[in-house]
Amino acid sequence: MKNNFIIYLGIILVVQPCLTAPVPKSVDFTSADDEQLNEHNKVYKQVLNNFIDFTMKISEQFLEFTMKIQEEINQNNDLPGKELPNRRHVKFAEDLANIKSSESEQTLLNMYRLTEDIVGAEREVSIKSLHSEEAENLIEKYKIREFMDTIRERYMEFYENVSNTIELYANELNESQRQDQQKLLDWNEDFSEIKDFPSKTNKFTLFFEFFKPCCDEE
Ligand SMILES: *[C@@H]1O[C@H](CO)[C@@H](O)[C@H](O)[C@H]1NC(C)=O
Ligand SMILES: *[C@@H]1O[C@H](CO)[C@@H](O)[C@H](O)[C@H]1NC(C)=O
Repeated sequence: MKNNFIIYLGIILVVQPCLTAPVPKSVDFTSADDEQLNEHNKVYKQVLNNFIDFTMKISEQFLEFTMKIQEEINQNNDLPGKELPNRRHVKFAEDLANIKSSESEQTLLNMYRLTEDIVGAEREVSIKSLHSEEAENLIEKYKIREFMDTIRERYMEFYENVSNTIELYANELNESQRQDQQKLLDWNEDFSEIKDFPSKTNKFTLFFEFFKPCCDEE
């Protein structure tokens, strides 16, 4: 039986390069169409920038923690005979090399990957049946579950802030704009009601699609 959480720690270590890559800032607020559903929209820019800042901070915190634990596990020889990296680690490094770019779509993709890793780690430590007894002992010893609880709470706070930002924006719209953007407002209503971390995260990623569909044909 594989020890997934430990494999997980290996993955996190290769995520680091995209944390240090330059991140585009959408600061051009001069556009006339900043209340239309496109990439000049001000709520899109604001949420995107907040998401970037938030992801950088939380990912650094997550990385620091996982590196510290990994070091302690090695020092204490808690996992004799286990070695990193592994196959999943290598695959991840390849994916990362393919998206090494500071274009905004690539950045968003990097953000999703980081988020997906964090959600995966949270899920993995929160559901006991997903890991071995050996991993459970480490999770308890290093208080990994407590750490992931605070990470999850910060995400939930971030998501709540997103909903509030969209609500403020919606209040500025006139009737015809509101009609045009009804699907965004409906989305926010559904989004704000979701309490489960992985489901809320999945729903969140759809937000950017309203402004800049990822799979548009050029
Ligand atoms: C949410 O918004 C509040 C108020 O603006 C801010 O203090 C807090 O840092 C934000 N939290 C996150 C996680 O974005
Ligand atoms: C709503 O605002 C838009 C953009 O400012 C404007 O073009 C439109 O005429 C307004 N519609 C109504 C019904 O006021």
